Amino acid sequence: MFEIIRAEAQTFWHLLVSPVRGETHQQRLESFYAGQARGYDSFRRRLLHGRQAMIDAIQKQPQHSGGGQVWIDLGCGTAENMDRMGDAVNQFDQIHLVDLSQSLMEVARRRVESNPVKATVHHHIADVCEFDIGPGQADLITFSYSLTMIPHWFRAIERAYKQLRPGGMIGVVDFFVSPKYASSPIPQHGWFTRTFWPTWFAMDNVYISPDHLPMLQSRFETVTLQTSLGKIPYLPLARVPYYVWVGRKI
Ligand SMILES: C[S@@+](CC[C@H](N)C(=O)[O-])C[C@H]1O[C@@H](n2cnc3c(N)ncnc32)[C@H](O)[C@@H]1O
Repeated sequence: MFEIIRAEAQTFWHLLVSPVRGETHQQRLESFYAGQARGYDSFRRRLLHGRQAMIDAIQKQPQHSGGGQVWIDLGCGTAENMDRMGDAVNQFDQIHLVDLSQSLMEVARRRVESNPVKATVHHHIADVCEFDIGPGQADLITFSYSLTMIPHWFRAIERAYKQLRPGGMIGVVDFFVSPKYASSPIPQHGWFTRTFWPTWFAMDNVYISPDHLPMLQSRFETVTLQTSLGKIPYLPLARVPYYVWVGRKI
């Protein structure tokens, strides 16, 4: 019990109080995550909504019923998405886990060691914007709550596009705000939502944007899009908008 409270307090301290330091993006990520790695999964399960919905939406697509596939999880963190895949993880021959944070990748490594899967799992400490396994090599690419943390997110999407095979699937779940003038199916958010959440999350170098979804929708064919509001731990009245989007490269 004491351990849980300690991990929770450490996570909270790093989220709300401790300043993020570092000269490079990687150093800043490590300064943010190093003290949270232990409590990361438990805290983020209550903050990062829709990750299971994204995995479920991907699994509903017929392209992913076969074997021998390649999955790249970009900004994988602790690789919790591998657990969320359940038995469907066995359809992959190769899984590439990519993240710049050494501390979170260490947790991912331990997760894979304690739950071995059929696939060969590659752990890459790398920038998503530089990572490349070659054109058309991936069957599935996922970004779960990583796009809002990647400064050059448009470059990350372009890289993902190139690595995905035609017909391959891409799943993204993340926070968002609507543009000032939204059109269906993107819900219209008021001034407060559009101003408050980007400002609040930017303190932790999380850049909530109205532009991610339109860019994804213009680059890929949309298979499914759901938007919703998620709770924030310890802030009972607050609700932050997030989306679950699955697309296909045509
Ligand atoms: C909020 S966490 C989400 C982690 C995991 N996908 C999940 O759903 O729990 C965002 C992750 O993106 C990683 N990240 C941010 N920018 C990155 C970049 N340019 N290249 C690789 N990883 C990056 C962070 O280190 C962090 O692990």
